[in-house]
Amino acid sequence: MTVRVGVLGAGTVGGALVNRLLSDRDAIRLKSGVDLEVRRVAVRDLAKDRPFAIKADRLTDDALSIVTDPSIDVIVEVIGGLEPAGALVLAALRSGKPVVTANKELIATRGQEIVEAAKRAGVSVMYEAAVGGGIPVIRPLAESLAGEDIDVVSGIVNGTTNYILTAMAKEGRSYDDALAEAQRLGYAEADPADDVSGRDAAFKTSILASLAFGERVAPWEVESEGIEGVTADDVASATEKGEVIKLIGSAQRGIDGRVEATVKPLSLPGDHPLAGVNGVTNAIFIEGPSVGRLLFTGPGAGGQPTASAMLGDLIQVASRGRGPRTGSAHDPRPRRQVLHR
Ligand code: HSE
Repeated sequence: MTVRVGVLGAGTVGGALVNRLLSDRDAIRLKSGVDLEVRRVAVRDLAKDRPFAIKADRLTDDALSIVTDPSIDVIVEVIGGLEPAGALVLAALRSGKPVVTANKELIATRGQEIVEAAKRAGVSVMYEAAVGGGIPVIRPLAESLAGEDIDVVSGIVNGTTNYILTAMAKEGRSYDDALAEAQRLGYAEADPADDVSGRDAAFKTSILASLAFGERVAPWEVESEGIEGVTADDVASATEKGEVIKLIGSAQRGIDGRVEATVKPLSLPGDHPLAGVNGVTNAIFIEGPSVGRLLFTGPGAGGQPTASAMLGDLIQVASRGRGPRTGSAHDPRPRRQVLHR
């Protein structure tokens, strides 16, 4: 069974994914039974060099032409941001094409609408890569833990800021130098202000909280603060006290039953389980009364790990056709909490 894939975007993650699809096509087919063919790739600049070898006629700068192409079965969206990604994803779903996306801003902000469109069309939308890079956490949370009454979800969900804080604490490097390195390594967002301001972590915390608690927690409801205010002196004084500063995203129910979600830098004791999570590594705790405490950890950003998560989604979508929807918490059924905006 050959499944023809259209990829929208060929930046760090998109480029890594196309590379894997081209170089590992046989291995993927032998292992999963699904033959994934990269049919077309949409790029912003046709003249730019790409880290993959694909015939020129498979590249286009018209992403919509891929979405409407009847010879394409599945759409992968790695453009990022709300638009044009949102319109393209919705158009793909409405025309009956499953979508795999890494777009945390889009899922956090318009997940309900997107899941509803997928449901109406009877196709899947999958977004494992939207949180935690290569860490499988969305499907475990949405499916394996669907029966658990989760108490808390918390952890380090932004690789760039963890890379910066680690470099400052362990190597005495400057904030600017560490940020530049994170950008060079392909960890940072197109606008790295999204990382350091806590915005990216708020999107991810919103997605995790929505799945964990089965009700929508919008990104603007996540009280967030980034690491821009963390100075070299703050890092040094934490180190002197045997502590480590980490940017932590967290969500739990307050005493009134409402989900309270935050993103903020915290100084953790050196023996805290998150204190030793360094560099681009992310780590997400999920706690529930029956399951106890689970820890999901691994590379939270970067082309290869994130492409690995997307490849898993793609194989899932391609092999099941109408696979499971991992966006149950974004399902537009009535919530206890009515949200506006
Ligand atoms: N900029 C993000 C991070 C990429 O550093 O975590 C992965 O979502």
